[in-house]
Amino acid sequence: MPEGIGEDPLILVSNRGPLEHTRGDDGRTAKPGHGGLVTALGGLAGHLEDAVWVCAALSEEDVAVTREHDGAAFEPEGGGPGVLLRMVELDPEAQHKFYAIISNPLLWFVQHYLWDLGNTPDITRREVDAFDNGYVPVNARFADAVAEEVEARGGRATVMVQDYHLYLVPERVRDRCPDVFLHHFVHIPWPHPDAWRVLPPVMRRAVFNGVLGNDVVAFHSARYARNFLLGCQELLGLQVDMDRLTVEVEERSVHARHYPISVDADALESTAASPAVADHERRLGEKRREHLIVRVDRADPSKNILRGFRAFDTLLDDHPELAEQVTFLALVQPSREDVEEYVDYLEQVRRLVDDVNAKHGTADWQPIELSLEGDFDEVVAAYKLFDVLVVNPVSDGMNLVAKEAALVNQRDGVLALSENAGAHEELGEFAVTLHPFDIQQQADAIFAALTMDGSERRDRLAASAALVRENDVAKWLSDQLRDVNELRGPGH
Ligand code: G6P
Repeated sequence: MPEGIGEDPLILVSNRGPLEHTRGDDGRTAKPGHGGLVTALGGLAGHLEDAVWVCAALSEEDVAVTREHDGAAFEPEGGGPGVLLRMVELDPEAQHKFYAIISNPLLWFVQHYLWDLGNTPDITRREVDAFDNGYVPVNARFADAVAEEVEARGGRATVMVQDYHLYLVPERVRDRCPDVFLHHFVHIPWPHPDAWRVLPPVMRRAVFNGVLGNDVVAFHSARYARNFLLGCQELLGLQVDMDRLTVEVEERSVHARHYPISVDADALESTAASPAVADHERRLGEKRREHLIVRVDRADPSKNILRGFRAFDTLLDDHPELAEQVTFLALVQPSREDVEEYVDYLEQVRRLVDDVNAKHGTADWQPIELSLEGDFDEVVAAYKLFDVLVVNPVSDGMNLVAKEAALVNQRDGVLALSENAGAHEELGEFAVTLHPFDIQQQADAIFAALTMDGSERRDRLAASAALVRENDVAKWLSDQLRDVNELRGPGH
């Protein structure tokens, strides 16, 4: 377990929290959130005496629970993540504007370079209204809830804010609670300064000024930390130090840091050894051809699923000898279905799969098998069995799929990894690098991976797995806490 954070209470803040309440025939259930973040932060919080996690009440049942506790922090039934929860009930209209217009797609698309700038986005009254009457008040609600928790603890605490939904929170918390230590982890790419110019000056300044309320702004890679500082210099005219990775704001230094997130290696290995995964392995094994290519993604335009399939189409054109010898298993999880861009994207994915299968398929062979089930046991079975894993995002904060898959694969599988995935900073030297926009290059690289010599495959996979095991999620957390303790200084 990583060391703690001194004497100070800890306040975690994220839009989606560690538990989601639902109501079924058997009454209320609290389902733990999944994903590396919840595991990692929950693990930390559970070992501290005084920790609270502030998050949005997202489901109807979350709202009911929140009301039962009058909006105050409560101990979740059954223990949950071992931390108090404070759920924030939001006005549904403001919440929609905050989530489905500003956070996704506007900020998400800016930060992943997804806008087609000749055509989109149009910033109209709708977006300005969603910022003013959605993003701003929702952030204010979160900040006020955090400030109340800080004040209830005597005015001092370490606050760890997560992600792009909450950029305005730090500045407002600092105004109310000057003795707090504010740490913000941005889990998605931070783009170069010009990308932010898609946002009108008033919005982009609000974002930067909000984030500059922190003491530490943390990212998954050095590239994003540098982009953040360049943005402070270019867009706000602030003085930055690119060696120390700091920016000066009035009398304070704000530190940019990078800590690559990782996986809980023990937990994943035990899932990989489970009977449920073995069932899926058997099923996949019965169907497999000579080669198995796998991808695992949310249905998100940043994941570049369409170009991945176009590259596969090109591969089959270029190598007719692969007909009936290779299957591309795509485990795609529908995501953000209340956002139009995501619905359209999934539809395009389905159509392209049909086209490629109609063009190359035979009576008993479908080149692409698309599954939208989102079953994690099936995902882990696919991780164990792939020969080539395609991870070709346009841009991706980290991409944990690459790390999970490298850890548990049992066929000396090769990672085909986009140079724009955060994971490429660590795993790129053992992977076959993909250029996310170059279809022919991707096709050639996948072919090279499929035909790579056995001992080279073995060495590359072993090196990747060792790296993931050594730099696992516990290290991600303890490195951050070491820096928090150091930067807070002895006065705290
Ligand atoms: C992805 C990103 C996270 C982000 C999350 C939000 O997993 O990598 O950085 O917080 O999406 O997901 P949601 O389902 O709440 O939109």
